[in-house]
Amino acid sequence: MNEQDVQAKWHKVIQRRSFLKGVGIATAMVPAGGLLATGVKAAGAAAQRLNSGDAAILRFLAAAEIIESDLWQQYNELGGVDGGNPAYIAALQNLDGDMPQYITDNTDDEVSHAAFLNAYLMSRGAEPVDLDEFRKLPSSRATGARQVGRLTNLRNLVVDTSFYTRYRSEANPDLGAAPRQAVSIVNEPAIPLNDTDTPPDTAQPVPPVAAKARRMQAIANTAGFHFGYIEQGGASLYTSMSVKVTDLEVLRIVVSIGGVEVDHFSLWHDKLGNAVAQPLAGVVDPVTGVTFPDLNNPGGELVQTNKILPEPTRFIQGLPLVSVIRPSTTANAGAVATIKSFTADLLFEGQSKEFFTRVMGLAEAADAAKRRV
Ligand SMILES: [Fe+2]
Ligand SMILES: [Fe+2]
Repeated sequence: MNEQDVQAKWHKVIQRRSFLKGVGIATAMVPAGGLLATGVKAAGAAAQRLNSGDAAILRFLAAAEIIESDLWQQYNELGGVDGGNPAYIAALQNLDGDMPQYITDNTDDEVSHAAFLNAYLMSRGAEPVDLDEFRKLPSSRATGARQVGRLTNLRNLVVDTSFYTRYRSEANPDLGAAPRQAVSIVNEPAIPLNDTDTPPDTAQPVPPVAAKARRMQAIANTAGFHFGYIEQGGASLYTSMSVKVTDLEVLRIVVSIGGVEVDHFSLWHDKLGNAVAQPLAGVVDPVTGVTFPDLNNPGGELVQTNKILPEPTRFIQGLPLVSVIRPSTTANAGAVATIKSFTADLLFEGQSKEFFTRVMGLAEAADAAKRRV
């Protein structure tokens, strides 16, 4: 590429930056290389507009990634590699010493997913998704949290832990099964709330003894299960969306990002097991009573903590069991199912009626998409 070409391409990048700014996209989230590639693509593919179904799928996935980015950013501020809450970081590291790195990298991945999907939508002549007007939920008051409006609530969650037994059994929700919860996590924070509840300088020994340390460990353990819950949902959602896609490039995007959601799930599935295995098992939150038992005692196939790889499951009637992502049907893993699950998780607690109308509208359009042949 000669100097003139570079200048011309850079000019396109600058134009694209102003355009992105104009429609309210955080350009800082899009690396310059991505912008350059998008600019080139936009010029070459201007005529190839997405069909309405593919656009609806990508728009819902962009919304889901914006939501994921919001929650991961909250975890990252408090518990990531540059996280600001030492006691929370120490409690997370009781699950695995690398937790801060994994949290930061997972956050980066989600931010890249959201920015890419919106840039791609625009490059194919479709509307991007912007949920900024709904960033109104309060932040944690604990040391480390920025005081900005949030899309998601992590201060009080009901975490569905049935994924844990679902992936350890042959029972598939798509064929009517309802695997049981591994741990009961009801009305529990996944991030520290404030410095009175959990002082940021509290020592976090294993096992925790002092009440404040037990409280913080229960919060970090909840985060561990919540990471697994969120990412298994992503794995199922992308799988369910992939079979509705028509355009081959869109299919490549959906399966390529979906694969990373599976990677995230697998990582967290391994780490969260340390909250319910020795030497950490047995933590009880002194405020809520939420308990993290030793799932290896008495143990058994359905709960054994190191059985993190999927067991073969019932998939297609009349055929042998097979190890697959589940659920994957629209009813159980689609866009509406995802929003309903996030709502039951209390992830949207405090959100406005307009927010639910917006995300449900995006979800229903995505679920209605059909592959055109
Ligand atoms: Fe993602
Ligand atoms: Fe994810």
